[in-house]
Amino acid sequence: MAGNDHTPVTVIGLGSMGSALAEAFIGAGHTTTVWNRTAGKAGSLVDKGAVAAPTVREAVTASPLVVVCLSTYDATIHTLEHAGAELAGHTLVTLNTGTPDGARRMAGWASGHGARFLDGAIKNVPIAVGKPDTLLYYSGDKAVFDEHEATLRVLGGDTVHLGEQPDLAALYEMAVGGVLLPSLLAFFQGTTYVTARGLQADTLVRYTAKWLEMIISALPHLAKQIDTRDYTGPIGATVGIFEEVLAEQRHYGRQEHVDVSWQAPIHHILNRAIAEGHRDHSISALVEMLRKPEQSA
Ligand SMILES: NC(=O)c1ccc[n+]([C@@H]2O[C@H](COP(=O)([O-])OP(=O)(O)OC[C@H]3O[C@@H](n4cnc5c(N)ncnc54)[C@H](OP(=O)(O)O)[C@@H]3O)[C@@H](O)[C@H]2O)c1
Repeated sequence: MAGNDHTPVTVIGLGSMGSALAEAFIGAGHTTTVWNRTAGKAGSLVDKGAVAAPTVREAVTASPLVVVCLSTYDATIHTLEHAGAELAGHTLVTLNTGTPDGARRMAGWASGHGARFLDGAIKNVPIAVGKPDTLLYYSGDKAVFDEHEATLRVLGGDTVHLGEQPDLAALYEMAVGGVLLPSLLAFFQGTTYVTARGLQADTLVRYTAKWLEMIISALPHLAKQIDTRDYTGPIGATVGIFEEVLAEQRHYGRQEHVDVSWQAPIHHILNRAIAEGHRDHSISALVEMLRKPEQSA
């Protein structure tokens, strides 16, 4: 890993996340050039020491390392088209959320313009940028990652290179990111039950956190079952038990006039698994259902 030699950095895209990235680079002593479509968003960063480039082209030419955090790959390509040939020889790092095919398209576009390329994903919120535990993963040319690792580590101490294939960060982003919304929705559903009884949502936090810790502790065992496709070992609750509990939960939700409709497709998957002989198997057997969607899905 190269030491942090305070490589000058350009940050393009100053939304919530891009502004946090720029601020972290400024705070770590990097000469930081910024550009945003809506130019006014650069103001507070300039007050903290950033240099606002008047054009994308000038933003790109200002630094060997160009970090882009726009909403999508399409917005990124559209914006960087204005920098044209200036990208040649620069390292381009994209940190937007997107799909693996989007990342491959982005990588092709970058190499077509002579840029060295890494795609990355930030697994946290803007306020966590720069903290020692904050996870960012990257994929693409390992030599490029090694060269800039110390600088990229400014954005989060848990900085990982997943592999040479440029779409791996987006792949893991899709694979890991999907956990978020169902988990939150389940928490929100729980809060409707307690608040309807005049209790504070806050009272659920400690117990939900403990439950999430249990889930975390089960993940390695479930992953092993999935990797071996053996769902018969020491298994905790079975598919059958999960089905019975979910039936109770849906009944309670309807009784309380809470919209629990999001649980219906989950119940359907459980019932499909039971119909295919997985009643006494580990809940990880549901992955077999996900691997073969129904025609209508
Ligand atoms: N915020 C988070 O908690 C978080 C966490 C992890 C990952 N991310 C990812 O980080 C990326 C940025 O998120 P954000 O929260 O910073 O979003 P945001 O606050 O909505 O900012 C979006 C940025 O993209 C720019 N933009 C959008 N369309 C554009 C276009 N066609 N041409 C040029 N610029 C365009 C916006 O420019 P204007 O200011 O001119 O509109 C702005 O700089 C997203 O892919 C998001 O999924 C965000």
